[in-house]
Amino acid sequence: MIWRSIIGKLWATIIAIVTIVLLFLTLFLLQFFENSNIQQADQQMEKIGVKAGLLLEHAKGSNVEDTLLSISDIADVYDADYVLIVNDQVWSGPKKSAMAGLNRRFFETDATLRQALTNNRTANKIGNFKMTTNHVKKNQRLLIVGVPVRTSSGEHGAVYVIQPVQIAQNALDQSKKLIYLCAGLSILLTTFFAFFLSTRIGSPLRRMRKAALQVALGNFDITVPVITRDEVGDLAVAFNNMREKLKANMTALNQEKEQLAGILQNMADGVLLIDTKAKIVASNPPAEHFVYSWNYEHDHDPAQIQTPDDLRDLLLEVSEDGVQKMREISVQGRIWVVIMKPLYDQNKIRGAVAVLRDMTEERHNDQMIKSFVANVSHELRTPISMMQGYSEAIIDDIAESAQEKKDMAQIILDESQRMGRLVNELLDLAKLETGHFQLDRRNIELGDFFRHVVTKFSNLVNDAGIRLQANIDLVDGKTFLLDPDRVEQVMTNLIDNAIRHTRKDGVVAVEARFEDELLHIFVRDSGVGIAQEDIPFVFERFYKADKARTRGKAGTGLGLAIAKHIVEAHGGEISVNSIKGEGTTFQFTLSQDKASDR
Ligand SMILES: Nc1ncnc2c1ncn2[C@@H]1O[C@H](COP(=O)(O)OP(=O)(O)OP(=O)(O)O)[C@@H](O)[C@H]1O
Ligand SMILES: [Mg+2]
Repeated sequence: MIWRSIIGKLWATIIAIVTIVLLFLTLFLLQFFENSNIQQADQQMEKIGVKAGLLLEHAKGSNVEDTLLSISDIADVYDADYVLIVNDQVWSGPKKSAMAGLNRRFFETDATLRQALTNNRTANKIGNFKMTTNHVKKNQRLLIVGVPVRTSSGEHGAVYVIQPVQIAQNALDQSKKLIYLCAGLSILLTTFFAFFLSTRIGSPLRRMRKAALQVALGNFDITVPVITRDEVGDLAVAFNNMREKLKANMTALNQEKEQLAGILQNMADGVLLIDTKAKIVASNPPAEHFVYSWNYEHDHDPAQIQTPDDLRDLLLEVSEDGVQKMREISVQGRIWVVIMKPLYDQNKIRGAVAVLRDMTEERHNDQMIKSFVANVSHELRTPISMMQGYSEAIIDDIAESAQEKKDMAQIILDESQRMGRLVNELLDLAKLETGHFQLDRRNIELGDFFRHVVTKFSNLVNDAGIRLQANIDLVDGKTFLLDPDRVEQVMTNLIDNAIRHTRKDGVVAVEARFEDELLHIFVRDSGVGIAQEDIPFVFERFYKADKARTRGKAGTGLGLAIAKHIVEAHGGEISVNSIKGEGTTFQFTLSQDKASDR
């Protein structure tokens, strides 16, 4: 674990460097010390040799033994011994090196040391020599320096000063100990330094790592303290700056996203985002409504909403051509215009965005405007041509009997009344639509009012074999502020419609009750019903759902449009529910509150 931290690596590196440096230093120093110690010992021993030579040379008259004692004293100071060879005589120092094996024969046979005896030259040698100490033979490393001497009597010889190398070695061992101590101390210091660095550099770095992880999780409020004024401190400052900028950018991004989402949610048009696999990625409520309606129409499980096939096809076309495409899709009787545009990720198409507009009203309005003139002329043409035909028949005396003439005149009267009614209704509608009319509200006793309206139809229902019920107990005896003529007009149309669309033995029921201070009126029938696709349009002028109507039962298609205007003028609403083949219920409310009037 420690090797994975910067501090661990730093520590290991420093220790490695220190170890290598110390190793080399130790090697070189030891080499150097050894050389210089031996050199020093060599020089000292040579000096002793020279001194001994001088003592021997100037020892005129004095005892040889005294001179040798002096030489021994000098050698003893340096822990050394000597062997003096003059002619056949051999003297040895207090350590008796000559007896131990370094005898005349030894010096004479050694090629280097012989130089002092024979060639009158100083000779020195380091080596392992066999010595016999206390009758035990052992190898000993010695430094031997031979100096040629001349006695006062002029005899030549040589003095060999002998010192065990061990003495020089002792100094070296001391130096080694010192170096080891230094190495130990520096490793200790390095470790301490590494831990100091660990708190100084490592802990701010660790804190920054923690903060970075937090920022990655979306927590932008975290800051790292700037403790030092070095690179680590600069890094902390840079980190804090980065965090602040990130926060600002993220906030801006989120705001933009919210704005866009808000716009999308409140758009009247539907917007759909689909990926290349035609999966819906994003949508707004109108688009969801479209997709839901399509799935409903195609009997798909509402829990598993699917992308409409038309959109899949359109996506295929858009992906192939790479350009915007438009298509009209009809769902549940409504017409949607879909404009789809490809979305690019650099050069690759990554999906498409579709804008959906419900064009049902516009299409219908266009149709209505076109058909209005046609409708009016058509409605007028039938009575006019009938009137023309019958009046011609009367003029040409085609009718034989007076009764026949009377019947013809009756038809002309009926048709002219029908024309009059149409014109009146048109005028009425024009007035209602432009708002140029006044309600004449009065307090009306509701029981009497409904009974009067229903009674008007008694003959008609009797002829048609239909039962007409009035469930008005809940409002009987109560008064309500309304325009009786206008409301009667609405009721008359609704009951008339119901009777006209109900077969023999059917039932038409009128019901009234109060709810939430509103007067609710229902006109139910067990008639033929209205087809699903016609329901949204029955309140439009000239709209006739039963296109195959029989001549006798034909109306103008203006009744419900007028009724809608009258109800709305009373601050109420009118609606219809119907199941084809089972019956229809028209329902409208009336309000007494004049503030809700139009
Ligand atoms: N109770 C009903 N059952 C079935 N269809 C109905 C019913 N009421 C209305 N409709 C349909 O709605 C259409 C519009 O009705 P509306 O009252 O506006 O016109 P109309 O009855 O044809 O003519 P008008 O009332 O002007 O004489 C009718 O033509 C009919 O197709
Ligand atoms: Mg009608």
